[in-house]
Amino acid sequence: MKIVDEHITAYINSLELELPQYLRILEKEALENAVPIIRKEAQAVLKFFLDMKQPKQILEVGTAVGFSCSLLSEYMPEDCHITTIEKVPMRIVEAKKNLAKARRASDISLVMGDAIDALKVLNRTGTSDDVSLFSPSGNMQTLSELTDCYDFIFMDAAKGQYMNFLPEIMKLLPVNGLFITDNVLQEGSIAKSKYSITRRDRTIHTRMREYLYELTHRDDLTTMILPVGDGMAVSTKIR
Ligand SMILES: C[S@@+](CC[C@H](N)C(=O)[O-])C[C@H]1O[C@@H](n2cnc3c(N)ncnc32)[C@H](O)[C@@H]1O
Repeated sequence: MKIVDEHITAYINSLELELPQYLRILEKEALENAVPIIRKEAQAVLKFFLDMKQPKQILEVGTAVGFSCSLLSEYMPEDCHITTIEKVPMRIVEAKKNLAKARRASDISLVMGDAIDALKVLNRTGTSDDVSLFSPSGNMQTLSELTDCYDFIFMDAAKGQYMNFLPEIMKLLPVNGLFITDNVLQEGSIAKSKYSITRRDRTIHTRMREYLYELTHRDDLTTMILPVGDGMAVSTKIR
């Protein structure tokens, strides 16, 4: 189920400017291979907030094959760097190839490992035993050179783990930092009673509801939930 009428989404998307060719190809390949990448309408939200926020350091959790990371890098300011985290080996193989083709490849770092370990490494509280680094441009770089402060964080990984990631994310996010979480409305099912959700999906339903409650009730965040794409939570750290 789509949370916005498909005709309306199609119309809004038709107003979007075309992506550069390498991104169009990457988007097409990802969709053909059923890789779950960010939707067109959500891309517009990211581009808007990049322009508004002008970040210096971006962190993405959930690289998949590198589409949204390449998109963010394409539209980020000139003096910005992006670090992206992915754990699935098959995805990492594709991400390495694709990120090397990005126009701003030299401003991208791919952290390979489970996000919970990677976030702890970025926070200087974890060991790098299960996490490694790839620089798409071939630059020699070490994990310890990556910053522990990200003024733009995009979360797009396993939804059931968002609550576990949040404490680490909050430490990496400075005051005034922007934090965007994708796929929070779960095709609208999040608004339904858990009793109408199939037993198989109840855990994720409960976890996402807890996560959204936390984002909207913490006193150090201001959060709005946009019914765009599959739902995006946009948060700012206020203290
Ligand atoms: C929705 S896809 C990301 C799509 C990507 N952001 C894009 O739009 O091009 C989610 C990705 O998160 C990865 N992922 C899920 N849980 C993870 C974890 N605990 N640590 C690292 N990556 C994870 C999955 O392997 C998957 O590739």
